Amino acid sequence: MTTHIGAQVGEIAETVLMPGDPYRAKWAAETFLKDAKIVNEVRGMLGFTGTWNGNRVTIQGSGMGMPSLSIYANELISAYGAKTLIRIGSCGGMQPHVGIRDVIIAMTATTITSPSSGIFREMNFAPCADWSLLQAAVNAAQTMDTKTHVGGIYSSDVFYAERPDLDEQMVRHGVLGVEMEAAELYILAARHKCRALAVLTVSDHLQTGEALPASEREQSFGDMVEIALKAAFP
Ligand code: HPA
Repeated sequence: MTTHIGAQVGEIAETVLMPGDPYRAKWAAETFLKDAKIVNEVRGMLGFTGTWNGNRVTIQGSGMGMPSLSIYANELISAYGAKTLIRIGSCGGMQPHVGIRDVIIAMTATTITSPSSGIFREMNFAPCADWSLLQAAVNAAQTMDTKTHVGGIYSSDVFYAERPDLDEQMVRHGVLGVEMEAAELYILAARHKCRALAVLTVSDHLQTGEALPASEREQSFGDMVEIALKAAFP
């Protein structure tokens, strides 16, 4: 057990999918995993371990924002031996060619600050995805009907932005979407010699104001989970 995860050592798989929302962890485990067993309920941040195509997988909620994700990813890596961590979550679209329901596979994640900023100080470390996972995710997506984009995203510290000019700079530099967790996951994976990737579903669009209706979320999110599992076990 750790401060925030109640699982026994051995109950967490080496491969962990991390949605922000604990209820999405439950849904994904019930939908995709065989013999899924709940392994964490501390603070309601649900985690489940089961198998996918015979491979052991844990799906553990990360909460929203980089500080929350950092707590879970650190404990998963240091106490439970997680080696492959894939964020599955939603993001806001930032380019006209990126539509609602599309999937974004995040090659890099730009930040203004992250929980690791204090370590890097004046250095702008470039958080990037693990190449083998990225390549496998792209290969998987190409066999599916899902419209998929591969490129940079922006990991923001705020959902309600008071500085629209920051989003504008991201748009101007070709960033595909905005979310709040991936950059720190990539940094932690680099630090601990793990593999990380973020596979995201576009749930809303900053330019058009469109948002995915609740009734359509499951199907769209399902494609993202499938890509993440196929990336982990190609
Ligand atoms: N901003 C930040 N995070 C998000 C968004 C957004 O617009 N949509 C989904 N996650």
